[in-house]
Amino acid sequence: MVEPIRRPPPRLHPLALRVMHWVNALSVIALIFSGWKIYDDAVILGWLHFPDWITLGGHPETALQWHFLFMWPLMLNGLIYLAYGIVSGRFVRKLLPISPREILATIRETLRFKLSHDDIRHYNGVQKLLYVGVIAILVVQVLSGLAIWKPVQLSELLALFGTFQIARIAHFVGMALISGFVVVHVLLAILVPKTIVAMITGGPRDAEPVEAGDTTFAPTAH
Ligand code: HEM
Repeated sequence: MVEPIRRPPPRLHPLALRVMHWVNALSVIALIFSGWKIYDDAVILGWLHFPDWITLGGHPETALQWHFLFMWPLMLNGLIYLAYGIVSGRFVRKLLPISPREILATIRETLRFKLSHDDIRHYNGVQKLLYVGVIAILVVQVLSGLAIWKPVQLSELLALFGTFQIARIAHFVGMALISGFVVVHVLLAILVPKTIVAMITGGPRDAEPVEAGDTTFAPTAH
């Protein structure tokens, strides 16, 4: 007798997404720590200096080299992640739409200590907002970084920000927002450790089992 092969549904975080997430996390963290060392050399806010022990590079020149090294995986991996999210439909399935009502409901549940973490397959309104927000900020961050890296060759890009100084401040503000996201994101992940396990192992299956089409019929022994 011939029976259809039932393919198990994909996991919550397919392998490709997990690899992209961790490459992205490593790149962002290395860029922040090396960026702090570069910043210390020519501070924007007189009172703000980053102690050496939380910076990467040891010397501003070395920090710059780390920064230029990790911008490549961030940009390439980021482009692949954006293409993957759009083509696979993941952005629409997982991160959109974001409704103010959903965000308010999440805030209300959090304040009443009633926020449920039982089903990690569904992101709540605030999670969606944070994820879409940080993705958008990272795109602007790459653009402001490119503009201050090559202000002459990429003068049209620099013009989008106005002046070199505005682009530099935009890059600094972007860093602050991304750092804030990372702190909140990691704390929330630690509060619900099964989300970290899922981002490593793939997590639960994400849909009802689907039957493979005609082309994948295969004989099974009976
Ligand atoms: C450093 C920069 C980071 C950025 C920009 C970032 C961004 C993101 C984004 C956009 C998602 C949603 C992905 C999707 O479903 O398409 C996500 C998920 C996740 N991230 Fe990160 N991440 C970062 C670092 C980390 C770190 C260091 C951890 C370690 C604790 C972590 C743990 C997770 C977990 C557990 C999820 C699963 C989603 C959930 O259940 O809430 N991330 N991250």
